[in-house]
Amino acid sequence: MAQGEASTITVMGARPATRLPSIAALFRPHLGQLALGTVWLLVTNALLLAVPRLVNDGIAVVEGTTGRGGSLVALLGLPTDRLWPVVAAIGACALLGAATRVASRVELFNVGRDVERELRAEAFAHLATLSPSWYREHNVGDLMSRLTSDMTNIRLLGGFALLNALNTAIVFAATLPIVLALDLRVAALALAPFPVVILGAQLTARMVFKRTRAVQSALGALTTRVQENLAGQAVVRAFSREAAEEASFDVANQELRRHARRLALARLAFAPVGGLGALGIALALYAGGAAVLEGRLDVGDVVELSARLVQLGWPMMALGLIISVIQRGRASLSRIHELLRARPDIVDGALDRPVEGVVEARGLTVEVAPGKVGLAGLTVKVERGRVLGVVGKNGSGKSTLLRALARQLPCPRGQLLLDDVDVNDWHLRALHAGVGVVPEDAFLFSDTLRDNLAFARHDATSAEIEAVVDLCDLRRDVTALPEGLSTLVGERGVTLSGGQRQRVALARAILSRPAVLLLDDCLSAVDSETETNIVAALRRGFVTAGGATRAPTLLVVSHRLSAVREADEIVVLDAGRVVERGTHGQLLALGGQYALLWGREQRRRALGAEP
Ligand SMILES: Nc1ncnc2c1ncn2[C@@H]1O[C@H](COP(=O)(O)OP(=O)(O)OP(=O)(O)O)[C@@H](O)[C@H]1O
Ligand SMILES: [Mg+2]
Repeated sequence: MAQGEASTITVMGARPATRLPSIAALFRPHLGQLALGTVWLLVTNALLLAVPRLVNDGIAVVEGTTGRGGSLVALLGLPTDRLWPVVAAIGACALLGAATRVASRVELFNVGRDVERELRAEAFAHLATLSPSWYREHNVGDLMSRLTSDMTNIRLLGGFALLNALNTAIVFAATLPIVLALDLRVAALALAPFPVVILGAQLTARMVFKRTRAVQSALGALTTRVQENLAGQAVVRAFSREAAEEASFDVANQELRRHARRLALARLAFAPVGGLGALGIALALYAGGAAVLEGRLDVGDVVELSARLVQLGWPMMALGLIISVIQRGRASLSRIHELLRARPDIVDGALDRPVEGVVEARGLTVEVAPGKVGLAGLTVKVERGRVLGVVGKNGSGKSTLLRALARQLPCPRGQLLLDDVDVNDWHLRALHAGVGVVPEDAFLFSDTLRDNLAFARHDATSAEIEAVVDLCDLRRDVTALPEGLSTLVGERGVTLSGGQRQRVALARAILSRPAVLLLDDCLSAVDSETETNIVAALRRGFVTAGGATRAPTLLVVSHRLSAVREADEIVVLDAGRVVERGTHGQLLALGGQYALLWGREQRRRALGAEP
């Protein structure tokens, strides 16, 4: 979606449209910490850059001369004819410098971590606002990587890149004038290999990052294989595909090893590049030695020069890395922007009040995907506390109706009303609180049964929980579980049977006390008698948000006609259109599709095929 297009959508009553944070905006809240970190960095460099001059002073003491650059020992007011003050000063600089270096890293790296946490929180919160249609178009693996490795890149941008960029700038600004002041000719020769080092480091860094990306994508492919195999483990076994799966896993595994080795090789390339820097020291000794013989420099000056070249080494190598880290961070930030720029196609309306429960469709036509109509021209009204049965073949549009009402699908204006108000005008929170939807394959969390039930209502009392357990015919199941309601249900509820899972999902929805309850074939794995009993119990009602016992408005989708038999009205859908409608009795009298299906269902039951 284009940025301009996104900004034209007003999100009423919802989170304000997310701004797209620039790098500067991300760091602005941390200016204080950045300033403190920079101060520590300056102190560190001042202390450590003093060491070569002190060494020079020390050699001058030994030789009884004075260095060209001026004695730091003298500047500090220490005796210039003794060695111990020099040694003590070097020791103090090294120790203090190490301490302040730690302090600068703590401050600046923490900024990176804070920025990462804040941006991740923002992206995560934004994900919660996006519509189901958006989720269908994006794969989980990609979203996960945006919230993990892309965030890491932004952290490195804030920590590593920032610290080293500042450090490099400080070291260069302080060292180059000193080195050049010592002796221009010697310095020029000694610095000659440095541009090559910078270029080499940059090329190496680029290679490292390219290969890191290859490792990450190989790791992503491997993770997907592992994840799918674990999830589909029963299918793999049932079809005896273990060997084939192992072979294809091995391909992904080999691929990861290959890329990891290539990355390790690229990392090793830093060593020879760093070695080039040592060439500068050799040149300094060569040219410096000549200068000493000519009397232009002292031995101490040459030693100082070499020490300063060593100090320039890392910042120079870092330059290449910094550029790559910044490039990668910016690329990652643009991937996060892409995510933040996505706008939900289902947005909040202004109406925020409890749902009463009158549902009405007026020529409702819903597109399930661009150009694909899932439901065409449905007109139906369900009064508060009444029951609508929705039946029809696979793909006839039953779920589409429920999903439109639950606002999981965008819905044209004026065609679907809740309490006489267009669903588009309802605040999503109010609508979701009033309209409960139970799908066929509900998702349970790896938590206790009780916490799963109380997912939407943490304040539910034990009595309320017990009541829904009974209502959904879960009593016997709960008693049979080793720890009753405190039993952990395993990932996605795997330790429960399909029928148990479905009834837990229904109970969870009921506990949130909706005024309208949408059952999307949500008892398909429960035997038909129990399904009929539960629907009948729901008709009698449950305690609603107001505290009174009330019958919810029920929209029941089922492939078993027995479940909708008692409904006030039943619509039969075919290819998104209503082909028959009426009560059970009327539909039987009509002698159409419904009557045919009912006859079949009865015969199956007589034969014992239908539970
Ligand atoms: N995301 C989608 N993209 C494209 N087509 C879709 C999408 N979701 C649903 N459809 C199509 O919309 C039509 C109606 O689907 P719907 O899920 O409402 O059927 P249903 O009556 O609930 O079927 P079932 O009994 O199998 O649950 C089907 O043809 C289906 O293929
Ligand atoms: Mg369906």
